[in-house]
Order: sequence, then C-alpha cells, then structure tokens
Amino acid sequence: MADQLDTLLDEGRRFPPSAEFAANAVATQALYDAAARDRLAFWEEQARALDWMTPWTRVLDWKAPHARWFDGGQLNVAANCLDRHLSGPRRNKAAIIWEGEPGDRRVYTYWALAREVGRAANALKRLGVRKGDRVAIYLPMVPEAAIAMLACARIGAVHSVVFGGFSAESLRDRIQDATATVLITADGGYRRGQVLPLKRIADEAVADCPSIRHVVVVRRGHGGEGDESFAEMTEGRDHWWHRLLDKESPHCPPEAMDSEDLLFILYTSGTTGKPKGIVHSSGGYLTQAAATTKYVFDLREEDIFWCTADVGWVTGHSYVVYGPLANGATVLMYEGAPDWPERDRFWKLIARHGVTVFYTAPTAIRAFMKWGTSHPAAHDLSTLRLLGSVGEPINPEAWMWYHEHVGRGNCPIVDTWWQTETGGIMITALPGVTTTKPGSATTPFPGISVELVDTTGKPMAKGGGFLTLTEPWPGMLRTIYGDDARYQETYWSRFPGRYFAGDGAKVDDDGYWWLLGRVDDVLNVAGHRIGTMEVESALVDHPSVAEAAVVGKAHELKGQAIAAFVTVKEGVKPSAELRDDLREHVARKIGAIAKPDDILFSADLPKTRSGKIMRRLLKDIAEGRALGDTTTLADPNVVARLKEMYEDKE
Ligand code: PRX
Repeated sequence: MADQLDTLLDEGRRFPPSAEFAANAVATQALYDAAARDRLAFWEEQARALDWMTPWTRVLDWKAPHARWFDGGQLNVAANCLDRHLSGPRRNKAAIIWEGEPGDRRVYTYWALAREVGRAANALKRLGVRKGDRVAIYLPMVPEAAIAMLACARIGAVHSVVFGGFSAESLRDRIQDATATVLITADGGYRRGQVLPLKRIADEAVADCPSIRHVVVVRRGHGGEGDESFAEMTEGRDHWWHRLLDKESPHCPPEAMDSEDLLFILYTSGTTGKPKGIVHSSGGYLTQAAATTKYVFDLREEDIFWCTADVGWVTGHSYVVYGPLANGATVLMYEGAPDWPERDRFWKLIARHGVTVFYTAPTAIRAFMKWGTSHPAAHDLSTLRLLGSVGEPINPEAWMWYHEHVGRGNCPIVDTWWQTETGGIMITALPGVTTTKPGSATTPFPGISVELVDTTGKPMAKGGGFLTLTEPWPGMLRTIYGDDARYQETYWSRFPGRYFAGDGAKVDDDGYWWLLGRVDDVLNVAGHRIGTMEVESALVDHPSVAEAAVVGKAHELKGQAIAAFVTVKEGVKPSAELRDDLREHVARKIGAIAKPDDILFSADLPKTRSGKIMRRLLKDIAEGRALGDTTTLADPNVVARLKEMYEDKE
C-alpha cells in the first residue's frame, strides 16, 4: 500500500472540463450547493424525478443502522422504467439495442419492451409467483435478462440474479438462501464461440432446491428447442420462455409497491465462506440509480449508453437496467467476450451502434492496452463523448491510455467508486464540473457523506486511512437477507456509527479520493469480488486437502490474482495433476472466475502461536517481497521454506 501511495502522490496531471462540455453539461455546481445546504431536500428533489403512485410522508427514517427512505410512498419500479416513457416521443425510441456474440442483433423500443415485460409478468403470475416471492435469474447477457428483472419488479416479486459464470453449487446456495420458487435460465449462452450449457448447470443446482416449482428456459443456445444436448426439459417443471409468453397478454397492471419493499437480492462475497444476500429496496434504490445515471453520465435523449457489465453484477443492475431505463435512455447490451472473434470487438460495437457514453472496468482497459493501440485506432470512435470506469482502482497509466486511445483526448473520464452494498455510485467526478486527476475517483456525489478514518476510527481530513460513510444514502443496502445480525456486524461494528466499506483510501490536499483496494479478506479479481474464505472452503472440500490459505497477489491485467497455499492430507502426494484437479474443483464449487492462478503445496503454513494463519506473510511471498516481521510465528522456518519453494515453483 505504501508504494502505491507514493506513486499516486506523484500524480500531478489535471484535466479540467472543456468550456464546451461545461457549457452543455447536465450536472452543475448547483447540485453540490443544493446538497450541501440540505442533503435530504436534495434527495427528495431526485426522488421527485420518478413517478410515485402515493407520495411519501417522510423522507428519511433513520434508526441506525436501519434506514427507511421515502416512507409511506408507493411506486412501481418497472412502471418508472417503461410505462412513463410510452405517452410521449420516447415510445418508439430504442430502449435496448442488443448484440449477441455470434453477431445476431435485436432492438426493443420502449413500446416493445413494455409489452414483453407485461407478458413475462403475466407468465410469472400464472406460475404462481406473488408479491414478495423470490425469483432466481441465471441468464447470459440477453434482453430476456432485463425483461425478467423488470417483470419481477412489475408484480412485486424479488429477483436474485446469479451471474452466468457461477457454478451449479453457487447457484444452488443462492437459490436455497433466498428460497426462490422460480428459476429463469437459458439453454445456453455464448462465450468465446462456445455455448455455455446453462440449463444443464441449472438442472444440477435445482436438483437440491426443493423450493423451486418452475424453471423457465430462454432459447438461446444454437442447439435450440428439441436439442437434448442443451436443454432437457422436465415435464411439469420446465417451460420454454417463448411458449409461456406467447399465451399471455402484454398488459399487466403494475403492483403498487411501498418504497421500502424489496426490489432485489444480490449475492456478493464477504470475509466468510458464505456469500451475503445484499437486500435492496425500491424507492431509494431507484432514486439513486436514476439520479447518478443522469448526472454522472451526462445523459441526453440521443445518447447510446453502453455499460459493459454483466447483469449478474450490481453494475449491470444499476447501469444496464434500472438507471438508464428510468431515464428513458437507449442502452447497448452485448452478450460476449471483448476479444471474440477478434480483439477489436468492443470498438466495432461502438462504431456500429454509435455509442456515445462508454462505461467499463480497469481490467478490460488493461487488456486493451496489452492488445495494442491498433485495434481502437482502426475504428471510428468519434461518437464517444464520455468514458467511465468502475470496479477497482484505475491506475494512472490505464487512465491515460483510455483517455488518449479511446477518448482521443477529448472525452471526460468518470472513475466511479461504489459497491454492491451502496446500490449506486458514491464517489465520482461530475462531467463538466469536476477537474479530474488520473487514478482518482475525485469527490463524493452530491448528498453522499464520506469520511476517512484512522485505525481507531478518528476522522482524518487527509492522508491514508479507511473509507467510511457517515450518513445513510437512498440506495444503501437495507440488510443481509435473513441475517440482520450479520449486516450490523459486517458493516457497522468496526467503526461504531459508521458504515465501513472495507476499502483503504487516501485523501489528498484538494480533498480528492484515491482508492487503494480492499483492506479485508475480499479479493478483486478482474473486477469480480471473491472472498479468500470461499476459495479456501472450496479447496478444503477436496478429499486430498488438509488445509488451505488463499491470498490475492498483484496481477498486471486482473488487478489481483489468486494464490493458494495448500497442505495435503497424510499419504497424498502433491503433483501437477493434483494442482490441475484442485483448480477444476474450485471452478466446480464456485465458478471459473475463482480458479487460483498459483497453487503451492506445503507441509506447513505459517501460523501464530495461537494457530492463526498469517496471510500477510503469504501475500509477501506471493508478491515476491522481502518477508515482514515473523517473530510472532510459532515456527519462523516455515515461512522461509515457503518463500524458497514459491520462488522455485516454476
Ligand atoms: O474495493 C472497491 C472496488 O470494488 C468493491 C466493490 O465491489 P462490488 O460490490 O463487486 O461492486 C463493484 C462495482 C460497483 C469496492 O469495495 N471498487 C469499485 N469501484 C471502484 C473500486 N475501487 C476503486 N475505484 C473504483 N472506482
């Protein structure tokens, strides 16, 4: 962290907004002034941009750490994303422009999208889904993912989207935790030219999910209906999506939802082996998603907004679906990989569809850098006018490359810090207002109260410390599904009275925030959040493994990679085959995203005298650093031996 801090401190480049951009910007300094004058009035103003069926009676009811926003108010999130755009000129505007990996395309106007959502909502009702019931969604990046989410929102069902890259076991655990009654999946989804057999994985998961009464299957894989290799349908339980929808009316009245009624659960990794079901409610979440989309992305009627995140992550919830559609924007949705069939796929997409606002992750930008400038240079990117970054700290070199080779020097960059738990963007530049510095997320969004503290919880005006939030915000998580004690313990106990985000940060002399990554046992691998404990649990689940310790190590492209130190059981011989088998085992347990890059077999792990594994030392070893203090170890020789082995491992 110290090296990183020094490099960032040296970053002296400044990018003030151009006069031209500032003159036409959606955001203005007045937003900051209004929020500073009266934070709650500012958020009320943002909430008024939505359509409410019943006005709220109280803007905020805060009984720490539980917030109720816009209490007494009623609205329907899907109606806000669809119906209210149908009476004017937006009715025939593209809501979703979609491109599949093989190159197939579909466009849904707001009118067409509303009709599909109505049909899907009626189909869910026919399957017995009622307000408050949980629906699991395990889909590739196809329009049906957004349609399914909005259909749930329309009838007041709570969706739990599970990223299509997760394993059967991960899907099963999430379905069980939420006791979902319906699962919406697809026969398959394309990734790098291959079809991922989602239905087969889903079948394996559902075999252990007694709560599931129906499985709805979107036809996507090239096998298609009747191709048993892709989707074997279980009579009575499984239904083809298109057949169900065909029978339904496109009209489904939106359910009046209380502002605090649940909109969705989204599972994310924490510091224990069990993912947490992050609970988001309706009115506050949509208010923040919509307001941040409008101001952070300088949204205009004619924009083509492309957020490259998968709907399986929170970025896909807030900035592919809810934020843009609540604003009546046109979004581009793409199914596949950035390097398929060639490494210029993203630039081709931008040129073909005339993308104006592009929001992606530093891990992608670093891959583009590695692939070279010729790819973006070969395409017409002149429609781009604003760039965004999310998911992990963006290093200044990646920022500059993005600025020069994608933005051609004239697109502002918004680096947006937030989390699954925050629901929407929290720290960001406002284009046209903020002077940016490469590598800094700049300053809190209006109405967001962020404070740096030291290890004792004492506020610091600047320097390096921990990022905390001091006031509730509309999009905040309400609890952890089924485990409010864990909610209080995880977020509110480290620094009493404050929400602790788990991130280290530095604040400079100008009050700018520089994010330094997680300070807990949560890894950020290629923008994917993975708990070290989850990977450890997956490893020790293998019959050959006695003990495992997992750490993150710095990685050029992924930000962090996973390094595992494994002790095998008595009588087991470590081998290259076992290493491969362990990697596959982790993929089976969690998903391919959690496969360790390095696995080192060791007879012992460095432990304190009380038996605690010293992960800090393992991280030093994995990152090739000189060893830190080893005096508290039960056996200091263990770590020296490990370091030697790690260095020799190739
Ligand atoms: O460590 C921070 C990092 O991603 C974490 C949140 O991960 P997740 O809940 O999966 O949500 C990711 C997308 C919002 C944070 O605790 N992070 C996210 N955005 C940034 C970031 N770190 C630095 N700069 C960012 N812009």
